[in-house]
Amino acid sequence: MREISPSTTLKVLENAFKKRAEGKDISILAAGEPDFDTPDYIKEAAIRAIKEGKTKYTPVAGIPELRRAIVGWTEQRIGINYSPDAVLVSSGAKQSIFNVLFTLIEKGDEVIIITPYWVSYPEMVRLAGGSPVFVDSAEDFHLDIDAIGRSITGRTRAIILNSPNNPTGVVYTREEMEELAGLLREKEIYVISDEIYDCLVYEGKKNYSIAKVKGMRDKTFVVNGVSKSFAMTGWRIGWVLGPERIIKLAKSIQSHTTSCPSSISQYAALAALTKDDGSVERMRATFEKRRNRCIELLSEIPGISFPRPDGAFYLFLDVSRYTHSSFGFATELVDHDLAIIPGIAFGKEGYLRLSYASSLEEIEKGIRHLKEFIEGLREK
Ligand SMILES: Cc1ncc(COP(=O)(O)O)c(C=O)c1O
Repeated sequence: MREISPSTTLKVLENAFKKRAEGKDISILAAGEPDFDTPDYIKEAAIRAIKEGKTKYTPVAGIPELRRAIVGWTEQRIGINYSPDAVLVSSGAKQSIFNVLFTLIEKGDEVIIITPYWVSYPEMVRLAGGSPVFVDSAEDFHLDIDAIGRSITGRTRAIILNSPNNPTGVVYTREEMEELAGLLREKEIYVISDEIYDCLVYEGKKNYSIAKVKGMRDKTFVVNGVSKSFAMTGWRIGWVLGPERIIKLAKSIQSHTTSCPSSISQYAALAALTKDDGSVERMRATFEKRRNRCIELLSEIPGISFPRPDGAFYLFLDVSRYTHSSFGFATELVDHDLAIIPGIAFGKEGYLRLSYASSLEEIEKGIRHLKEFIEGLREK
């Protein structure tokens, strides 16, 4: 346990919240969750479930109605028809990824992680007894297929992909998924495809799941959930779809850890996936507006660049012209009334992750603070 890193993110945030409590008008552009409330039709389904007494343990893999709904929803999104037995519903996508890693990995197995990465991947691999192998993404933050190829060894068991990406907002293309599949197809390497942000893509673009590429379905675990798309982070419902023989083993792990995800949340997730009052699209469209405004405002700051953010709700700002210690930079920024996550939390120095899961007013104020801070540095 001593080898597991504590969160760098929390250090910056603790400081920011302390200042806010002291009455300072500090902008916090750090959220990893939508700032919207869960839509009413979903809340009502949960209240109904409580009143109807759906408050007991459920089957380990989730209630059959929800698993069927996930199958239908996934087919609509990525065009693959899974059996309900290929679905394991868990207490958040985080648990889904953990279950899969715990099932696949034996001590000493290697798992390829693309840098910058979502903070939990390396620690989950270590907790499962494996070794993370970090591969830098290409300069535009897409996949560097040659570098991935070079990092494969006889111990490589899996690769974790995340598109749309946290922290960069980059959405991988169909072509790069096909190229990567070409590299992996003949090898016994699994793909864990974390598609948790796949409803949040902009300008009419679509995420392309590697599971769709010929020969990849039986090697891929598609991970998704309701947290980001439906503003349901606190309900804790995520899932994985993949090869049934391994899903069955992952289910066994879950049966001995959490038994099943919350029954009430499962009924809420069922409503989320099978009904629609337009709020999900409204949230997505609001994120798109904010993203556009961020791009506009950030382009006015000299010396800052960022990869094209086609999805999720983050921008990954290159501030390497000013600093190589993103933690130091973020700490100083808190003194200038902006809290933002240092790139080092995602394994990448010289960058900051700006989240636009905040009101436009907060975003505009925060970016103004960033601009003033950077102009001050240039004058020094
Ligand atoms: C890339 C990525 N994957 C997974 C998760 C976890 O989602 P959940 O709330 O379903 O556990 C997050 C949450 O921040 C995330 O950013």
